[in-house]
Amino acid sequence: MAIKWHESLAVGVAEIDGQHQELFRRLNQLLEACNQGKGKESAREMVTFLQEYVVEHFAAEEKLQRQSGYPGYAAHRAQHAEFMIAAGELKFTLEEQGPTLPFIITVNKVIVDWLTQHISKMDKDLGRYLAAKGQGKA
Ligand SMILES: [Fe+2]
Repeated sequence: MAIKWHESLAVGVAEIDGQHQELFRRLNQLLEACNQGKGKESAREMVTFLQEYVVEHFAAEEKLQRQSGYPGYAAHRAQHAEFMIAAGELKFTLEEQGPTLPFIITVNKVIVDWLTQHISKMDKDLGRYLAAKGQGKA
């Protein structure tokens, strides 16, 4: 069950879209590794990478928002913070259950669904705002 970044998720800012694509790629690798029965250790490494990458990615988005005086900054930032808590909990799930089906389901529910919804709404709102200000394209 590969997850795909799709053009409809484009925010219109090259840096952000590139990071979103990388996130999807890495999430797929994690899900594939679980499906192929790769061990807990490799899943753990992938989750750690994802967490670090997400921190960088959120920081980049939030910087763009501060620099452009984005009015939705506080709400957007709050969603990022909530996500980081959920992503942190994923590690506990992995430790408890290993890279098993329940873990895969949790990754899909907590991470993939959240990311898709967040990009579709919050990030695209940001993209439209930046485009209206003449930054980004879209
Ligand atoms: Fe975001």
